[in-house]
Amino acid sequence: MNVLFIGDIVGSVGRKALKQVLPALKSKYNPHIIIVNGENAAAGRGITQTIAREFFEWGVHGITMGNHTWDNKDIFEWIDEEPRIVRPANFPEGTPGQGYALIKANGKQLAIINLQGRTFLPPIDCPFRKAEDLVTLAKEKTNNILVDFHAEATSEKIAMGWHLAGHASIVVGTHTHVQTNDDRILPGGTAYLTDVGMSGPRDGVLGMDRNAVLHKFLTQLPTRFVVDEGDWHLHAVSVHIDDATGEATKIQKIRLTEDEWLLMQ
Ligand SMILES: [Fe+2]
Ligand SMILES: [Fe+2]
Repeated sequence: MNVLFIGDIVGSVGRKALKQVLPALKSKYNPHIIIVNGENAAAGRGITQTIAREFFEWGVHGITMGNHTWDNKDIFEWIDEEPRIVRPANFPEGTPGQGYALIKANGKQLAIINLQGRTFLPPIDCPFRKAEDLVTLAKEKTNNILVDFHAEATSEKIAMGWHLAGHASIVVGTHTHVQTNDDRILPGGTAYLTDVGMSGPRDGVLGMDRNAVLHKFLTQLPTRFVVDEGDWHLHAVSVHIDDATGEATKIQKIRLTEDEWLLMQ
């Protein structure tokens, strides 16, 4: 089976990019299951039900989140009734939503697990131990398992890759919004990439208006960040998994700018 995973969708520009690019990505990579990280989909902060529904209409099958999960309060109204969205599984016990989901589409099954790192992020439960528990749980249903490890530090993400090597089919990182160049298949058939990157404004700072971010760096004054406008870039990864074993056999990074996409039309 083929899995397409797209990094943090940032604001309306990121959503526009996703809508525009999905048909081309579908025809090029033939994904059976499409997963996106949606933690920044609503103006950079969280996600709303309207946006999630749009993603599903466009062909997305599952949504992962991260440290911005609760930024848009709309999510509290529907997260417990939406089986296709996961928030970090190592959030405190009793938190709304779920950290693991079984996604079924096009005759295939993929377990998706969302975890959040603890380096340069709030202290929460151990993502490594939670990962073990959830991979064991997922294996009762399927060998095809994707882990989105939403974390800041490359070291923590690489460690998670090794922790799950041979246990999960795909371990990808999100949160930094910058795609790394270390895609590989780890021993035991685990497709790995430290960070997938983002989908959203290209000329800002991680998707935010660069003037506001620069103002903050220059003055250290409280500054309101807003999502940048203008041209987009989109980062994703396509993975082929051997259904019988759950082992990944191929991983391809995807990096596309609005200019490149326009030339393809
Ligand atoms: Fe993000
Ligand atoms: Fe994040």
